[in-house]
Amino acid sequence: MPESLQNKVVLITGASSGIGRATSFALANAGANVVLFARSKEKLSTISGKLGKRALICPGDVTRQEDLKLAVQATIDRFGHIDVLFANAGVYISGKISGGDPDAWSQLVDVNVKGVFFSVDAVFPFSSSRNPVISSSAARSPATRRSTGSRSTALRNTLFNLLYMVSGANC
Ligand SMILES: NC(=O)c1ccc[n+]([C@@H]2O[C@H](COP(=O)([O-])OP(=O)(O)OC[C@H]3O[C@@H](n4cnc5c(N)ncnc54)[C@H](OP(=O)(O)O)[C@@H]3O)[C@@H](O)[C@H]2O)c1
Repeated sequence: MPESLQNKVVLITGASSGIGRATSFALANAGANVVLFARSKEKLSTISGKLGKRALICPGDVTRQEDLKLAVQATIDRFGHIDVLFANAGVYISGKISGGDPDAWSQLVDVNVKGVFFSVDAVFPFSSSRNPVISSSAARSPATRRSTGSRSTALRNTLFNLLYMVSGANC
């Protein structure tokens, strides 16, 4: 039987739109407490207004380690612990690497890869779970794995496997 989400504490990066926003609603409706992290404070406030006291907003940028550390501290102050990190914040670039924009690639790596490292680094010391990190399965999808964005997801998943080996946690 699946474990109940009641009162679990989930930090969701990229919670202001798309998958992160939808997941925030789904988890809060299932009884979890959700910590909403993204850069758009206004969007997070609107979501939090609909979710009530189960939501805590933490505006910040995943490329800034200090923003994530502040968010984790705010989570501990409010809820006492963190059960799950949904490392969801990301940017997408369509098309092939050849002929692409190197500045956009740097941004992609900063957000999609380094941002996950920073998120895991901030959360791990406070995580109550041995299975605390969720990310995207897009790198394994035949429909999407040829794009630049999905290659960054494949790299991200490889990094999770490395984290698993060094930390013993199942990422
Ligand atoms: N939708 C798909 O079909 C699909 C497929 C494969 C993989 N994915 C992955 O799934 C994740 C979510 O996708 P989505 O479609 O929901 O995207 P989305 O609607 O564009 O949402 C992206 C989220 O990431 C946040 N974000 C972007 N840069 C950030 C930064 N530097 N710091 C903090 N937050 C940041 C955005 O919020 P702010 O702008 O407010 O910061 C937003 O909340 C992404 O990692 C994406 O690569 C999606």
